Amino acid sequence: MKGLLLAGGHGTRLRPLTYTGNKHLLPIANKPMLLYGLEHLKSAGIGEVAVILGPIKEGVEETLGDGSSFGIKITYVDQPEPKGLAHAVLISEDFMAGEPFVMYLGDNLLKQGVQDFVRAFDRDGADCVVGVSPVKDPSRFGIAEIDEGKLVRLVEKPKEPKSNLALIGVYVFGPAIFDSVKKIKPSWRNELEITDAIQRLLDEGRRVRVQKVNGWWKDTGRPEDLLEANQLVLSDLEGNVEGEVSEDAQVTGRVAIGKDSKVLEGSRIRGPVIIGKNCLIGPNVYVGPYTSVGDECLLKDTEVENSIVMNGSRIESGKKIVDSLIGSHSTILNSDATLPKGQKLIVGERSVLQI
Ligand code: DAU
Repeated sequence: MKGLLLAGGHGTRLRPLTYTGNKHLLPIANKPMLLYGLEHLKSAGIGEVAVILGPIKEGVEETLGDGSSFGIKITYVDQPEPKGLAHAVLISEDFMAGEPFVMYLGDNLLKQGVQDFVRAFDRDGADCVVGVSPVKDPSRFGIAEIDEGKLVRLVEKPKEPKSNLALIGVYVFGPAIFDSVKKIKPSWRNELEITDAIQRLLDEGRRVRVQKVNGWWKDTGRPEDLLEANQLVLSDLEGNVEGEVSEDAQVTGRVAIGKDSKVLEGSRIRGPVIIGKNCLIGPNVYVGPYTSVGDECLLKDTEVENSIVMNGSRIESGKKIVDSLIGSHSTILNSDATLPKGQKLIVGERSVLQI
């Protein structure tokens, strides 16, 4: 079994953070989101993965390299335009060389990994397994319609969904999928849709199985999804303080603080919180639950809660920042403005602002 990890597309819904970088490298609990998918593929026993690179490649090869540091062999496949998920499959045919494979959309996070899907594929001698999960807003997803326990139809983002079972972005395919992706036509949004290709497998009487996901699953298309994914991962955080905490600072709950970081006097950290390496936190800082602070950040006279602060940022805002995404190497300074308590910010990389 091989792997296909998608890191293409434009990431438009996460602008301005994705103007300057690939959305799959945005950190969730201080780890680039794409690494969660790669690790899941590895845990399912997969040793060779093709990574789809789209128009914004920056950083992906630098982060994953040839895969050896993750114990996986990585091959990069270029997809200069996001022509659809089925197009990503089409251009990976040579790499798969007739083997079955797990396709994992790199902007999805799963608690339990992909083993259940691989097991279902092997057990049922399937041509395709699609991972599904019930959702409240099915029209945002590809949807699986089930009748008397059997999958009958797949529809991409239906206006009037007939089911609440969303495709979660993990699929296992046998080689029959390549015939299907060659036969389908681009959709109204000019993409080769994987749902159409799987529908073709179904119509041809192939074995297509649905497998419900265990544990949480999160698609990280929008800023609020990134914060929610961060909360979900931090909920399982184990406390580990490697840095230094002043005697006049307070650290409570599950908190991880990286090497060479310092928490100075008058500061309070209330977990779950992760703070990276080489940070200076304080004096007079409050870092509240569900916050991730990347490496080499400087926080002074400020409050941050339920937020992601990326590497190299400096916050001296004098205000409370909540539910925010602060891009890497940004600076947020204090102004005289009297603002309502609790600023929500989405700040692109290397921005400077006063609030
Ligand atoms: O999150 C689950 C949903 O993912 C499924 O329910 C849908 O059926 C599926 O189409 C997909 O919908 P999205 O609207 O979230 O797809 P998006 O365009 O965001 O792309 C998903 C991932 O695949 C993302 O990591 C970018 C990558 N991608 C996307 C396209 C269209 C590529 O690498 N190449 C592409 O051509």
